[in-house]
Amino acid sequence: MTLSSNPFVPLPLVDDQATYRLSCTLNGKPVEATVHPLSTLLEVLREDLRYTGTKGACHEGECGSCTVLVDGVPMNSCLILAPQAQGAEIVTVEGLADGQTLDRVQEAFLACGAVQCGYCTPGLVISAKALLEKIPDPTPEEIRKGMEGNICRCTGYVKVVDAVVQAAKASAGGCHAE
Ligand code: FES
Ligand code: FES
Repeated sequence: MTLSSNPFVPLPLVDDQATYRLSCTLNGKPVEATVHPLSTLLEVLREDLRYTGTKGACHEGECGSCTVLVDGVPMNSCLILAPQAQGAEIVTVEGLADGQTLDRVQEAFLACGAVQCGYCTPGLVISAKALLEKIPDPTPEEIRKGMEGNICRCTGYVKVVDAVVQAAKASAGGCHAE
């Protein structure tokens, strides 16, 4: 899918009662939903499909808490309108674990204490997944750069970087002491 948004083209006026039929793949399964055409993907995920793992905070592309994978690319779901997600393959944090077995990034975040209030965590984990797909063994600098779109107000990022290093190495070491 190619996102077709053009910030210089004004959005058409859309009636409050208008509906749009969205079909896409969510965490490997086909899903359909009838939504308002100006609903964001974040709203569709949380309010229509009830996948509430993805969080919203700023709703303007600044914090990264709403990050999901769209055709393998990490994107801010608060900036994507439902029609732009038509036919896309979406992966949210709910799609990472295999049953009771957490993904290695999730395991590493827990092992390294990279989670405090947890509000930013789904977005951070998704961004980390995408980063590790692109750079399997990133340096701390590459991790900081690759995840600069995700803001955490609790952890101070040291443990987040440690967690991504650990996930890359899939080993027990690598976390800083408390
Ligand atoms: S809620 Fe989407 S970037 Fe903040
Ligand atoms: S753990 Fe609280 S905002 Fe990141």
